[in-house]
Amino acid sequence: MAYHHVTAMLHETVDLLACKSGGIYVDGTLGGCGHAKLICERIMPAGRFIGIDKDADAISNARTALAPFGDLVTLIRGNYARMQELLSEIGITGVNGILLDLGLSLHQLLESGRGFSFQNDEPLDMRMDTRKKPTAGDLVNKLSAAELASIFRNYGQQSHARQVAGKIVAARRRAPITTSRQLARIVTAALGGRKRKAGLHPATKVFMALRIAVNAELEDLEFFLENALDLLVPGGRLCILAFHSLEDRMVKHKFKQWATACQCPPQLPRCVCGGKPRVKLLTPRVLRPGKKEIQLNPMARSTRLRAIEKIQDS
Ligand SMILES: C[S@@+](CC[C@H](N)C(=O)[O-])C[C@H]1O[C@@H](n2cnc3c(N)ncnc32)[C@H](O)[C@@H]1O
Repeated sequence: MAYHHVTAMLHETVDLLACKSGGIYVDGTLGGCGHAKLICERIMPAGRFIGIDKDADAISNARTALAPFGDLVTLIRGNYARMQELLSEIGITGVNGILLDLGLSLHQLLESGRGFSFQNDEPLDMRMDTRKKPTAGDLVNKLSAAELASIFRNYGQQSHARQVAGKIVAARRRAPITTSRQLARIVTAALGGRKRKAGLHPATKVFMALRIAVNAELEDLEFFLENALDLLVPGGRLCILAFHSLEDRMVKHKFKQWATACQCPPQLPRCVCGGKPRVKLLTPRVLRPGKKEIQLNPMARSTRLRAIEKIQDS
């Protein structure tokens, strides 16, 4: 199986994890193993690496890509949102570093045949984990116009979301919408003569919004962030690469909350909780890819990298 992905901010991310030999590191979004390979190289010869992905293709690719690291590596097909449970099942309660590189791999977009892109005409599936329901086709053919509009507006920041949803509902009355190109044509027609941002296909935001809804991407991140600090040993690090502004906002707020000493409600005139910061912000300002990387890999342009270190006595 061909598996292509171009890793974003490879060295910046793995440097921030500060991998050491003998440490335990988790990549919750293995994808094409770009970050994973470098982490494994750095923790040799005595560390442990756990690679998680919900997509069977990523796990199958990782079996070959990470084979040179032998027993160092454990692969798990699962959801990073359930990381605590997945790790405890293999007897791990604390780790030195966790990486999440959110979103979609190039393989999923262009080679998986699951309708993530309108460049190929494929079944409207969009599931990263094909054991789960719904598919994008289920949403597009079953949700009400109001529900579809809310997905397009909230996850895709799509303007004229109601018109697009209305056209979809009208089109599916004639025949079910089953392929990516069919959906792209309906969205393009719905947005008709409206002004378009240069270079952006009119269906881009609708496709992104559907993918986020199908895979519960924001819910998974929120759930993970609730328990993430408990997984790290003191001094352990968490690095998150986000591509969507909603995801980056969630990461930024959570990291800020952990780094803030006082956890009292803002309406209290003074602190009564006596709280201490639980983490050190390793990226007080978000890190973005440099010009050279964007030239070589334009898809990396919206990447935002944030990292924290758990404070020793938190
Ligand atoms: C951008 S790719 C990661 C690329 C990888 N860092 C590399 O260098 O090749 C994102 C991967 O995360 C996986 N993924 C997304 N959400 C997930 C979740 N909730 N649990 C597990 N894997 C997830 C996707 O299936 C995809 O393979």
